[in-house]
Amino acid sequence: MTIQSVRLPVVASAVAARPAKATAAAVSGDEVQISGAPTPASAEQLAQQGTAAAEQAATHGAGAGAAALRGPLRMILVGPPGSGKGTQAKIITQFFKATHISTGELLRAEVKQGTELGKEAQTYMQAGKLVPDEIILKMVDGKLAGEESFILDGFPRSKAQAEHLDETLAKLGKPLTAVANLMVDDEIVVKRLKERGRQDDTEEIIRERLQVYHSQTEPVTGHYQLQSLLEPVEAEGQVAQVGYNVITQLNSRLRPQGC
Ligand code: AP5
Repeated sequence: MTIQSVRLPVVASAVAARPAKATAAAVSGDEVQISGAPTPASAEQLAQQGTAAAEQAATHGAGAGAAALRGPLRMILVGPPGSGKGTQAKIITQFFKATHISTGELLRAEVKQGTELGKEAQTYMQAGKLVPDEIILKMVDGKLAGEESFILDGFPRSKAQAEHLDETLAKLGKPLTAVANLMVDDEIVVKRLKERGRQDDTEEIIRERLQVYHSQTEPVTGHYQLQSLLEPVEAEGQVAQVGYNVITQLNSRLRPQGC
């Protein structure tokens, strides 16, 4: 597998606590030129912009070219609803040629097709609750077996799911590269999601999803911190900035030793 970059200018460093708000200016100017996100913009538009920024970051580095990775990218994007997991996954999958596995998207496809699984899941999704593990785990296991390189978006969402994933990946011999923790203030995500307007984006359901996130999903970050896999990422800035932050941090984990 090859990576499209060798060196990224270091403008975002890993942080232990919530970092200060990032701005597009932090990566513009002498390093990478990134323009502001149009408002409002679709996730696709924002993702395209982020990808363009990532490509600029990739080609900007001294002696840019292909370099072998230490191994395939296998990562998790964790973060509250509306933190940009789906948006960033689209950027990273293009950049690292990995498969995007989103449990939310898989579930919405089942709902759209009117399958039994979809009908059962819909009740939980419309209430902002977690869909039961037996549905989710079967769905994800089937996907993981066939993929060497993947980005998990929206999974795992509880410690039980994280423990199941550990076991599955150990059996498959596919260790994780990193877990990016997208950190965004609750009120910012409420605003973003109300503007998006998906079926489960009413204020009442968004606040329930946030509550579920804080009580059931946030503890998952501690699980991965203990495994030294957690990368905190400031995710309140523009899409391109956040994408740049994620890729910069992944790059340090993926670059071959000594490069
Ligand atoms: P987006 O990129 O979509 O953010 P996100 O974090 O993916 O938000 P979601 O609302 O999709 O996450 P979720 O976890 O609630 O839902 P999921 O589908 O996983 O961005 C959101 C908006 O913000 C977009 O409009 C985008 O353009 C904008 N944006 C992004 N970044 C921005 C930026 N930097 N600046 C400005 N705007 C930005 O799950 C849905 C439901 O399925 C769950 O509630 C649950 O019922 C069920 N479910 C899914 N997975 C599981 C699981 N593993 N276990 C149990 N139940 C599950």
